Amino acid sequence: MYRSHKCGDLRIENVGIEVTLAGWVQRTRNMGGMTFVDLRDRYGITQLSFNSEKNADLCEKARKLGREFVIQVKGIVIERESKNDKMPTGAIEIEVNYLKILNASETPPFTIEDSTDGGEEIRMKYRYLDLRRNPLRKNLELRHQLGIETRKFMDGLGFLEIETPYLIKSTPEGARDFVVPSRMNQGEFYALPQSPQTFKQILMVGGYDRYFQIVRCFRDEDLRADRQPEFTQIDCEMAFVEQEDILQTFEALVRHLFLSVKGIDLPEFVRMTYAEAMENYGSDKPDLRFGMEFNDLTKLVKGKGFPVFDAAETVLGICATGAASYTRKQLDALTDFVRKPQIGAQGLIYCRVNEDGSLKSSVDKFFDETALKAWAHQMNAQPGDLLLILAGNTDKVRKQMSELRLEMGNQLELRDSKIYRPMWVVDFPLLEWDEESKRYYAMHHPFTSPKMDQIAWLDSDPGKVNANAYDMVINGVELGGGSIRIHDQGLQAKMFEILGFSKEEAEKQFGFLMGAFKYGAPPHGGIAFGFDRLAAMFGGTDSIRDYIAFPKNNAGRDLMIDSPSSIHQDQLTELALKLSEA
Ligand code: AMO
Repeated sequence: MYRSHKCGDLRIENVGIEVTLAGWVQRTRNMGGMTFVDLRDRYGITQLSFNSEKNADLCEKARKLGREFVIQVKGIVIERESKNDKMPTGAIEIEVNYLKILNASETPPFTIEDSTDGGEEIRMKYRYLDLRRNPLRKNLELRHQLGIETRKFMDGLGFLEIETPYLIKSTPEGARDFVVPSRMNQGEFYALPQSPQTFKQILMVGGYDRYFQIVRCFRDEDLRADRQPEFTQIDCEMAFVEQEDILQTFEALVRHLFLSVKGIDLPEFVRMTYAEAMENYGSDKPDLRFGMEFNDLTKLVKGKGFPVFDAAETVLGICATGAASYTRKQLDALTDFVRKPQIGAQGLIYCRVNEDGSLKSSVDKFFDETALKAWAHQMNAQPGDLLLILAGNTDKVRKQMSELRLEMGNQLELRDSKIYRPMWVVDFPLLEWDEESKRYYAMHHPFTSPKMDQIAWLDSDPGKVNANAYDMVINGVELGGGSIRIHDQGLQAKMFEILGFSKEEAEKQFGFLMGAFKYGAPPHGGIAFGFDRLAAMFGGTDSIRDYIAFPKNNAGRDLMIDSPSSIHQDQLTELALKLSEA
């Protein structure tokens, strides 16, 4: 038996018993005749003590232990002289009478402590060492807990977890595919699934009316804090349902997760249409932890001789509560913020509503006190508030203002990570026009059902049609999204036509789905949640990497195994692949 207890187990009640522990050496301290070793495993840290008067050889051996050596000890649990009430095991220590080195360790390249001195790159390279640290361990435990609770809840509702294949077929829609060359079918490729979308729909045709899967998905897209090339979804589909059934079922799932894992009873889920979200927050994933909704000032300010406003399609303002005290320097910094190339505004107009009620704007030359009062009135500003205004093309100015709103939310500390404001964004447009390729793309995916009462517009004005599509958003994070699907073969064929597929192409890419629809496809719909994002949200951070045991860096590389990497010429030959000369 390697161990009788784990390193987080022992308490004052255990004093007097003989135990065997095994783990890693966190650190050793020599104090006169005593040597103390902190022994660590997944469950905690236990202090070991070695007394040179009682056993000089053993004490000498302990002194020589390096960091991260793997050891096994036997000894008696004794009460500590100076207790550490910050540690669960802080009242006891082990008076060691046997020490075995199970494995030595080189000195690790960074400290394995809660706050480490290692930078991100080095920690990714030595991920096995980073995984020994408490913060990562806690994150993976949280992720595990979420998985267990999800499975319990879904099972309770009669959902079956069914696996779908990873080697599938490349399709031109969505993000870029990762492809896998086939040796047995030379010149042909599998693709790794961006999601099990078509398979879960086919499961509905197969009669499995409640499916879910915690499943890996692969997308070759640019990476960000909340995006990884391989990530995990809680993927779900139901048959014989309408949008409302899906919203209620999955609101209940997320409620259950918050309650069971975090002990938080979520407030009511706000429902907002896509149009409202864009108009009031400039984003399809608004952070509702704070207000600061957009105010459309276009009518009020145009035609007063200020060229920037006069040339603009839209002028939007937000009212930052209590920010009139912003200094010139802070306002300049905000201007620099909106002018950053990623945001792209020309400039920022502001107006302070001073405590004494007087108004001071950056465009005093064009707008007198009476005009500014009308702004403040329309924006419902109070003394002490700051009005921030952007002008330009409607879509652009909305995006820019959305960034500014979030920045002000940060600066005014309105984005508390302990508060959760869940919502559904509904009624997304079915299609998105792409100016470059001069064609429509499906906003969600090509299998999403249009609103049935708008179906006539598919011929006359497809851009106007809304979809039975929805996103679940919490605190500005898109946690999940889904839709009611098209289940009619004819409508699906029409959708492919609108998306610019010829009949042959549609048949080649999606013939299997349309084929299945010929054999009694039930009405169905579903949703998928970003499981890594869910874990990160529960942990209170934005970066999903810390919730994935072996993530990739921003360049899509796994620094530990050094991948991607070139492959041997023999493999290329076997696959009939030839690399182009660079
Ligand atoms: P969608 O593409 O919206 O829908 O994805 C669903 C959810 O998956 C998460 N997500 C990601 N998480 C981490 N890294 C990524 N690269 C990444 N991409 C997406 C997001 C997102 O909300 N098949 C449809 C769902 C459906 O219609 O049922 C789909 O995949 O949290």
